[in-house]
Amino acid sequence: MSICLNAKYLENFIKDYEFENIFPFIQKAHEIINNKTGAGNNFLGWLNLPVNYNKEEFERVVKAAEKIKKDSKVLVVIGIGGSYLGARAVIEALNSPMHNLLREDVPKIYFVGNSISPTYLNDIIKLCKDKDFSVNVISKSGTTTEPALAFRIFKKMLEDRYGEQGAKSRIYCTTDKEKGVLRSLALKNGYETFCVPDDVGGRFSVLTAVGLLAIAVSGLNVNRLMEGAAKAMADFSICDLNKNCCYKYAAIRNILHRKGKMVEMLVSYFPNLLLLGEWFKQLFGESEGKDGKGIFPASAIFSTDLHSLGQYIQEGSKILFETVINIKSPKEDFYIKQVEDNFDGLNFLANQNMGDIVQKVLKATVLAHTSGMVPNVILELERLSEFEVGYIIYFFEKACAMSGYLLGVNPFNQPGVESYKKNMFALLGKPGYENVRASILGNI
Ligand code: PA5
Repeated sequence: MSICLNAKYLENFIKDYEFENIFPFIQKAHEIINNKTGAGNNFLGWLNLPVNYNKEEFERVVKAAEKIKKDSKVLVVIGIGGSYLGARAVIEALNSPMHNLLREDVPKIYFVGNSISPTYLNDIIKLCKDKDFSVNVISKSGTTTEPALAFRIFKKMLEDRYGEQGAKSRIYCTTDKEKGVLRSLALKNGYETFCVPDDVGGRFSVLTAVGLLAIAVSGLNVNRLMEGAAKAMADFSICDLNKNCCYKYAAIRNILHRKGKMVEMLVSYFPNLLLLGEWFKQLFGESEGKDGKGIFPASAIFSTDLHSLGQYIQEGSKILFETVINIKSPKEDFYIKQVEDNFDGLNFLANQNMGDIVQKVLKATVLAHTSGMVPNVILELERLSEFEVGYIIYFFEKACAMSGYLLGVNPFNQPGVESYKKNMFALLGKPGYENVRASILGNI
């Protein structure tokens, strides 16, 4: 198994019989996931995706990535939420948050359309100036305002730079297979298109063309990513808490939540996992946070956040538990040498790798936090490569589905996301929203 769930530090928080007590509920949820009989069951396409994906499209994605690598210095990826976070999380986890500064052999990858900040947009426009670039616009609905607005701008830039014909070969649309403005435009203009499968929701779509094109452009091996996910799919198909750490994790979350833990903080000691934390927050936040229920998903990078949130975690309200991702062997390590005059008093750290020091800081922190009555569950991985990241993605996706059913919600819809959109359209004067506008202006 690529992930080893270390529950050693939960001994004071969860007793063995509690796992026995929750097991019938796990069994029931396992059944409704597999038989596709639960709420939102038409969005279970991610379940078998690691083996049952569209191979023809996968090859086209890889081919498109090769073309972009040859003809572009920059790839602008336009999308928001599930149409953005997964790709960025994978690229940063495996390359680096600084990949655009460090890698000269692959195009720079910039993500836009995830805010409406004109300052950010202008910065990206400046970065594309005088550089050959391509655009991958991703929107399942094809109507989300933030990416649509950004696409309007980058489409015009491409057309001005390369002419309509030239622009055509630099625009890649990832959208619904039939519906939506983006699909119609792609058909009309002859853009290369990829599909977001009908039965895969945005936040579960990283292993489709949604995530894979940018990931492949960044130089990563998408085959290995799928293989890792396929291994996880096999490992997590067994309904046994001693053999299936994904279900065990979901059980732990639910047991702790019932004991009043309202917040889960996904912790890691590696800044390259910052975006994985953002992806995790969307996955669990949109899947569980409904009907007045749900664990609030948060994330932190230690040691950074030990010096900001550490005080709260240790001594503040006892509302949270931590899920710690521990990567035991860093991609590159750093050996600490003796310094002759020991000017900084740090020679006690000498003659070891920084990776070993991280392990000690992690252990020290877990011990401190658990003694401060903050339960800690540790997800241990030997290393991080495409295989492990594919594995982790599937681990969290399945744990999320299991958690949602244990909580009694539909894990696959997100009705709440629409509320702000309705008000936004009304305030921006979109036709059809006049009544909403009148009602909210009365409230302001
Ligand atoms: O999980 C979801 O489905 C959403 O968060 C979407 O990913 C997000 O709203 C973007 O939607 P779209 O891809 O339709 O532009």
